[in-house]
Amino acid sequence: MAGRTGLWLIGARGSVATTAVCGLAAFRAGLVPATGCVSERLDLDPAVFPGWSELVTGGHDIVATPLAKRAEDLADAGVLPGWLPSAVAEDLRAADREIRQRFDPAGSSGPQAEAAGQLASDIVDFRRSQDLDRVVVVNVSSTEPPITPLPEHADLDGLERALAEPGRPVLPPSALAAYAAFSAGCPYVDFTPSPGLRIPAVTELADRRGLPYAGCDGKTGETLLRSALAPMFLARGLRVRSWSGTNLLGGGDGANLGREGRAQGKLAAKTRGLAALLGAEATAPLHIDHVPDLGERKVAWDYVSFEGFLGASMSLQLTWDGYDSALAAPLVLDLARLVAGAHAAGQSGPLGALAFFFKDPLGSEEHRLARQEQELAAWADRIAVAR
Ligand SMILES: NC(=O)c1ccc[n+]([C@@H]2O[C@H](COP(=O)([O-])OP(=O)(O)OC[C@H]3O[C@@H](n4cnc5c(N)ncnc54)[C@H](O)[C@@H]3O)[C@@H](O)[C@H]2O)c1
Repeated sequence: MAGRTGLWLIGARGSVATTAVCGLAAFRAGLVPATGCVSERLDLDPAVFPGWSELVTGGHDIVATPLAKRAEDLADAGVLPGWLPSAVAEDLRAADREIRQRFDPAGSSGPQAEAAGQLASDIVDFRRSQDLDRVVVVNVSSTEPPITPLPEHADLDGLERALAEPGRPVLPPSALAAYAAFSAGCPYVDFTPSPGLRIPAVTELADRRGLPYAGCDGKTGETLLRSALAPMFLARGLRVRSWSGTNLLGGGDGANLGREGRAQGKLAAKTRGLAALLGAEATAPLHIDHVPDLGERKVAWDYVSFEGFLGASMSLQLTWDGYDSALAAPLVLDLARLVAGAHAAGQSGPLGALAFFFKDPLGSEEHRLARQEQELAAWADRIAVAR
C-alpha cells in the first residue's frame, strides 16, 4: 500500500471537483467501474501509487455552496447518474468538512505573503489531521486571464520581497495557490491554463524544495482529438491547410470563459498545441462561445481542410459533444495518483511524462497522443523497476 494520500482541490466546489469527489466515492464503494481513468490501464506499483481507497479529498473555494447541492445540480444536468448524489451523501458531507472557504487574495489589503501562509497552513492542517503521507494539490478553479510579467516574477528572492509588501497583488490566485502548495511541501498540478506555473519564481520554489509539478490545462475534448488525428495526416503525407474550431460551452467554465479576456489563455494553449503538431503553415482559427442553454455540455466542431495527391482538396468535419466535467474528473483523479507516486519516488521538477493529460504540457514538447501514451506507460514502468 502506498499510504493515505490527500487530494487538495483549488476550486473544490466547482463542477470538475464535485464530479471527481462523487466519482471517487462511487469507486471506493464499488458502485461503478473507473471508466475514463487512465491510471486503471497502467501497470502501477501499488507500493508507490495510491489506490482509490487511499485518496482523501479537501480543498479551497471562494464559495460555500454544499457539495450535495452541486452534485444534485450536476445530476439534473446529466453529468452524474441521478441515483449517485444520495448514494454518496455521507462521503460528500465528509469532503465538505475538509473544504476551506478563502476569498480571492488579490482583493485583500494585507501582504500576499499572509494570504499564501494561510493557504499553506490549511493544507498542512489537512495533512496532519487526516494523517496523510503526502498531499497533491490540483488547481481546478476558474480560468484567469493572462498576466503581464513583473520583474519580481523572475526569481524567488525578488518575489518573496514583493509578497511581503501590503496591498501589492504581485501574483494572480493560481500562482499564489502554487506558491502556497510548494511552501507546504506539496506537489502541484495545474489543470487550468491560468498563469500560475508559468511564473519562473514560483517554480523556482518547487525546485528548491525538490517537488514535482505538472500542467497545464487538461486535454479532454477538441485538443485530445487533434493530438490523435493530426499525426494521422502527417503519417499519410497529407497536407493540412487549415484546422478551424468552434467551441460552444455551457456551465460555470463557459460563463467564465465568456468574460472579457478569460478565454485568451485557453485559446493560446490550444493554438500552441496545433502549431506544434502541424507546423505554423496550417491556419487554425478558433472560437470559444458561452451558450448557457447547453448546461454542463460542451460541443466542439472542427473543420479540417487538407490537400492530397495531385493537389486534390478534401475535408474532414468532426463534432464532439461531451460533458466537460465527466471528461475532466477521471483525469484529475489519475493525476492525483500519478503525481503522488512521482513524489513518493523522489521525482522533482516538471513531469513531462504526464504530457498525455495536458493541452500545453510542461517539461515536454511532445503533443502526439500515441507517443505521449507510450511515454506515460514507460515512466510508470521505470518507477516500478527502480524500486
Ligand atoms: N473538460 C474540462 O472540464 C476542463 C478541461 C480543461 C481545463 N478545465 C479547467 O478546469 C477549471 C474548472 O472547470 P469547472 O467546469 O469545474 O468550472 P466551475 O466554474 O464549475 O468551477 C470553478 C470553481 O473555482 C472556484 N474558484 C474561483 N476562484 C477561486 C479561487 N481564487 N480560489 C479557489 N476557488 C476558486 C469557483 O468558486 C468554482 O467553484 C476551469 O479553469 C477549466 O478551464 C476544465
